[in-house]
Amino acid sequence: MSALPLEQGETLPPAAYTSPEMYAHETERVFAREWLCVARAEDLPEPGSYLRLDVLGTPLVITRDEDGDLHALSRVCRHRFMDVLPPETTPRQGTLRRLTCPYHTWTYRLNGRFAGRLAGAPLMKEVDFDSGSCRLPAHRVEVWHGFVFLNLDPDAASPAAELAGLDRVLSSHRLADWESVATQTWTDVPANWKVAVENGSENYHHMGTHAATLEPYLPGRDTRVDACDGRWFTMFTPFSDFSRAPAPGGTGPGEEPGPATGQGASSDPPGMLIAGIFPQTVLAVVPDNAVWIRWMPTGPTTHDTTITLLVPPGVRQAPGFEEYLPQLREQVNRIQEEDLVAVRGVQRGLSSRPAPSHGRFSHLERPLWQFQRYLADKLL
Ligand code: FES
Ligand SMILES: [Fe+2]
Repeated sequence: MSALPLEQGETLPPAAYTSPEMYAHETERVFAREWLCVARAEDLPEPGSYLRLDVLGTPLVITRDEDGDLHALSRVCRHRFMDVLPPETTPRQGTLRRLTCPYHTWTYRLNGRFAGRLAGAPLMKEVDFDSGSCRLPAHRVEVWHGFVFLNLDPDAASPAAELAGLDRVLSSHRLADWESVATQTWTDVPANWKVAVENGSENYHHMGTHAATLEPYLPGRDTRVDACDGRWFTMFTPFSDFSRAPAPGGTGPGEEPGPATGQGASSDPPGMLIAGIFPQTVLAVVPDNAVWIRWMPTGPTTHDTTITLLVPPGVRQAPGFEEYLPQLREQVNRIQEEDLVAVRGVQRGLSSRPAPSHGRFSHLERPLWQFQRYLADKLL
């Protein structure tokens, strides 16, 4: 499929969305090797901040040291492999001076270059144990536009080079300064992760799935999809004339408070910029807010979706924000519920007998065609 030009582009075979073998291959060749966008730097605001996360069965904790540097450490204790921050008893984020395994109280340092090193292990003096070489494995972590990326592959090149073109598109938005104001996760959504990524990578479905929500002010048909290749894509949808008219008693984008920041190319009218980074994240930026979506597979036919709402600096403190935020959250949740109907419905179709095949793409689905090329490059 990926070898076909866009004009003849078609969907992947259904087994790509259902097969445990394909999933194992993707785990190995994509998720264990790629830079994954997993957090915001502001989630770790100060020295001692930590954030727990799991990446396809790899339990991790991101920490910030006293120099402000981030570390991504394994949460698997080097003694008998207990989770050092079990979700049953510890919050997902907070602050810590050291990391103490709750099983037999082995303690690990979090400072600077010693992060992950064993600080103490009680009652280990009577055996032959080299505590100096004992440390939690560390993984690569980098911050880009305020987003925390991590990579389980120690040999991976820095993400900055691959994302340089996207850097130029996003630089005027200064997203590093934006603030997260709400995050929600939908766990174990019954669909292969690629179904969700594909859904989030085209606006063609505005006219169906989001007919009453997004389509009136961001008509999918007006989307300009940029001719990208490789790991990232962009597209831009201008606000419709409808959205520029005052919405009586409504909550259209024209009524939302907050400073306008401008979108897309400087010549673009106001609208929504979508920036996607394969394999698992999409960002939708409008003048007053941004919706950041990331997906994490949890099995061949399940995934977690996490959505974070970001606002430009100053908006949080602006008058009216207290009323604006619940409205915005409700709008995002409603759109997400609409997307979940589509994502679940597509997975049911993919799992049906006889298996469907050869679904054809619109020109608006160019990012899906690009996604296939990206996957072919990683998997074949
Ligand atoms: S497993 Fe962590 S201290 Fe024993
Ligand atoms: Fe959608």
